[in-house]
Amino acid sequence: LNLWEELKFEVSICDRCRLSQNRTNPVLGEGNTKTLLMFVGEAPGKEEDENGRPFLGKAGQLLTKIFNSVQLEREEVYITNVVKCRPPRNRNPEEDELEACNRYLETQIALINPKLIVPVGAVASKYFLKEKMQDGISAVRGKIFDWDGGIKIIPIFHPSYLLRNTSTKEGSPKWLTWQDMQNIKEMYENLKEAD
Ligand code: URA
Ligand code: SF4
Repeated sequence: LNLWEELKFEVSICDRCRLSQNRTNPVLGEGNTKTLLMFVGEAPGKEEDENGRPFLGKAGQLLTKIFNSVQLEREEVYITNVVKCRPPRNRNPEEDELEACNRYLETQIALINPKLIVPVGAVASKYFLKEKMQDGISAVRGKIFDWDGGIKIIPIFHPSYLLRNTSTKEGSPKWLTWQDMQNIKEMYENLKEAD
């Protein structure tokens, strides 16, 4: 077994936290394991749990659309979540669940070795930025943070937040996210060139 197959197997039998009890499928993540750019969301939802793949539901479809609006393909990057099993009724993952699961994300980051990680939404942003997140996602989105191993972090709003805030007016969450994604895309292209 290679390291990715081993990781997939480990997660498939994982019962390190209570989220194992109600899952249909764990969602490890998918995409390009040699990418410089990784997106990390919160947790699988209903569709993701049923199919074992990340960002498939309404929020996932919007994220894919946002990618495509800046000429980014899902297949080109790696997409995962901070927890791999669906929380009941899509509640936020709890502190001990995040802690139980973080070894898998750590392994993924170590294997991929990306240059840029985009936490999608507040829960993922808090995982990476800890106390720097005290003023909430609005205060950090679009900003560049230095993280472990020389990796840069740029948080964006969660697409489910954008589904509830549909305005595209200048300064709206959707408009801001489009600015952020254009910057992320440009940084990604520069990183590829320098690689
Ligand atoms: N689907 C995911 O895989 N992650 C999220 O954070 C939301 C929807
Ligand atoms: Fe294991 Fe993570 Fe699933 Fe919890 S959420 S059971 S730690 S894979």
